[in-house]
Amino acid sequence: MKVVHTIAELRDHLRAFESPSFVPTMGNLHAGHLQLVDQAKPLGDVCVASIFVNRLQFAPHEDFDSYPRTFEADCAQLEAHGCDIVFAPNERELYPQPQTFKITPDAALDSILEGEFRPGFFQGVATVVMKLFQCVFSHVRQEGHAVFGEKDFQQLMVIRHLVQQFAMPIQIHGGAIVRAEDGLALSSRNGYLSATERAEAVALSRTLRAMIAQVQQGSRDWAQLESEAISSLKGRGWGPDYMTIRRRYDLQLPQSGDRELVALGAARLGPARLIDNWSFDLD
Ligand code: PAF
Repeated sequence: MKVVHTIAELRDHLRAFESPSFVPTMGNLHAGHLQLVDQAKPLGDVCVASIFVNRLQFAPHEDFDSYPRTFEADCAQLEAHGCDIVFAPNERELYPQPQTFKITPDAALDSILEGEFRPGFFQGVATVVMKLFQCVFSHVRQEGHAVFGEKDFQQLMVIRHLVQQFAMPIQIHGGAIVRAEDGLALSSRNGYLSATERAEAVALSRTLRAMIAQVQQGSRDWAQLESEAISSLKGRGWGPDYMTIRRRYDLQLPQSGDRELVALGAARLGPARLIDNWSFDLD
């Protein structure tokens, strides 16, 4: 496995290949990321992972400085999973000047759910992903492939739109959420939880499942489902941002006839802000 830190080195190594598959990450890898690498590996003729903690997607009060950086351990795990190239630029390499050109998703996606509670987040993500795609795919002769986790459901949707709207020759693949035995979705931010908080953390996923069960039993009062879920989490000591049922294709509230839905939630537990989602279909 090659570890490269500059765009020039990366492009140099990629010259010999036709169709890279790519897994962008911010490091601090867990089994969820490694599953994305396993998924990416057979899709192209060279598998690239990036490790870059992207300042642009963090608000000033968020955890950019304390975000866990575990580079050596990440590289060892990537190598064990057959990754061919790790691209780990520093900030000066990726942002040699202040990034004055940015990609702004349409407000319909950018201002709801994660976008409402983390203004600027999707602009930061879309901008760095566009840039990483330029680094990895600029020379491709065949279509490239990139894999993103479904845990960040809205992010995956933003990136699918980005690629479609800029006619980029890249297929975007979603990787299934990997969960701990008790059902907690794996996340780099789970590491912020104390043992007591870790035991409680599965309540986010369980509350979403309970909302889905109510929908399956015929409930269509979305506002009531949301407020009950929020109260239930608040009662357990959480600070929920949203708990909601949406239709999958545009994350708007379901209308009659919509069958492909997703329950999404985001809530703070102690020092961590956790997100989760479950897709489901109405019969
Ligand atoms: O999901 C992530 O880890 C990040 O948002 C991404 C896609 C690597 C962009 O920084």
